[in-house]
Amino acid sequence: MEEFGGSPFDRLLTKIRRRAARVAVLGQGYIGLPISLLLARSGFEVVGYDVNERLVEGLNSGIAPYPGEPDLPELLRQGLRSGRYRPTADPDDISGADAFIIAVPTPRINGGEPNLAYLLSAVETVKRSIRGDAVVIVESTVPPGTTSGIVAKSLLRELPHRVFVAHCPERAMPGRLIRELTEASRIVGGIDEESALLAKELYSSFSRGEIITTDATTSEVVKLVENTYRDVNIALANEVARICSVLGVSAREVIELANLHPRVSLLKPGIGVGGSCLTKDPLFLANASAERGYPPELIFRARKLNEDMPKVAARQIISFLEETGGVEGALVAVLGTAYKGGVGDTRES
Ligand SMILES: NC(=O)c1ccc[n+]([C@@H]2O[C@H](COP(=O)([O-])OP(=O)(O)OC[C@H]3O[C@@H](n4cnc5c(N)ncnc54)[C@H](O)[C@@H]3O)[C@@H](O)[C@H]2O)c1
Repeated sequence: MEEFGGSPFDRLLTKIRRRAARVAVLGQGYIGLPISLLLARSGFEVVGYDVNERLVEGLNSGIAPYPGEPDLPELLRQGLRSGRYRPTADPDDISGADAFIIAVPTPRINGGEPNLAYLLSAVETVKRSIRGDAVVIVESTVPPGTTSGIVAKSLLRELPHRVFVAHCPERAMPGRLIRELTEASRIVGGIDEESALLAKELYSSFSRGEIITTDATTSEVVKLVENTYRDVNIALANEVARICSVLGVSAREVIELANLHPRVSLLKPGIGVGGSCLTKDPLFLANASAERGYPPELIFRARKLNEDMPKVAARQIISFLEETGGVEGALVAVLGTAYKGGVGDTRES
C-alpha cells in the first residue's frame, strides 16, 4: 500500500504507530483476553480468537469470565461497544492480520515437561492466516529456545512474507491483571532487533511501564527465573517452618524476629504453592538446564518441598484431630479453594 511504504519493518512500524495494524490474539484466557481489550482500547482493531466456543459465545454476549478481575467487565463492554474488539471461534476471522499474539496454555505434563501441543496448534493457525508481512508474538510461557527454535523455524521456513517473531512474557498476577499489565515493566525478546522493536511498539500503546528489549531466549529465561526465584524463596520459608516444628519453636515468631535483620526478608510458610505458573515454570527452567548437562538441584528440591506441603499440612491436621477427639467423624472446614485469596483461579490449588 502506498500509504505504508518502505521496508516491511517500516511499513509495520507505521501501521502500529497509526493504530492501523489489525491484531489477532490467539487464546482469550486470563492473559489473552485482557491484552486484547487493552489493545482495542488503545485504538487497534482486535480479533480475539479462541477454540472454546462457549467462552467466545459468552464474550460476545458481554459476559466477562474470570471472577476476581475488577476491571474486566467494563473493558469488555467498552471493547464490544466500540466495535474494535471482536471475539471469534472461527480461525478464518484472523486471516490477514498484521500482528498475531499467541496466549495459549503451556501446561506441564508428568515430570514437569511442557505440553507444547496448544502452542504448536496456534502456530499452525497463524501460519495459515498470514497474508502479508506480519509480526508474531509468543506471550505463552515457554522453555528456553522455543521462540527462536520451533516457533520461528516453522513460520520462517514455509512463508514467503517477512515475518518478525518475538517473545513477550507476562508478569501479571490474577486478581490485578489489568493494573499489572498496564503498569509493570516488560521484557520483549526478539529473534532479531527489528522483531523486538515492533513488539515493543505494540505494547507501548497501552503500557506505562518500562519496556526493555533483548533476544527471545533471554526473555524466556528471565520469565522462568522470576517465578523460580519466588518458588525457591517460598520453599525456604516452608523449610524453616518444618525445622521449627521439629525443634519445638514457633516458625511465625522465628521468621518475624529474623526479618528484623536489615538484609533478611523471609516469606511466610504455607500449605503449598498453587496457580498455573509457579508450579511449572521452575521445572521448565530446571529441565532445560538438566537436558544441557547441569541439573540444578536447588530448584528441583525447592519444587519437591513445596509440592509436599499439602501432605505435611494434612498430617498436621490429622495429628491435631487425633489428640483432640479422633479423626473418625471429624468435620473439616476448608475456607477458600483457590491458591490465594481474592482470585477465582483454582488451577493447581
Ligand atoms: N494466568 C497468568 O497469571 C499468567 C501469567 C503469566 C504468564 N502466563 C502464561 O500465559 C499463557 C496463557 O495462560 P492463561 O492463564 O491465559 O491460560 P488460559 O487457560 O486462561 O487461557 C488460554 C486460552 O487459550 C485457548 N486455546 C487453547 N488452544 C488454542 C488454540 N490453538 N488457538 C486459540 N486458542 C486456544 C483456550 O481455550 C483458553 O481459553 C500460559 O503459557 C501461561 O503460563 C499466565
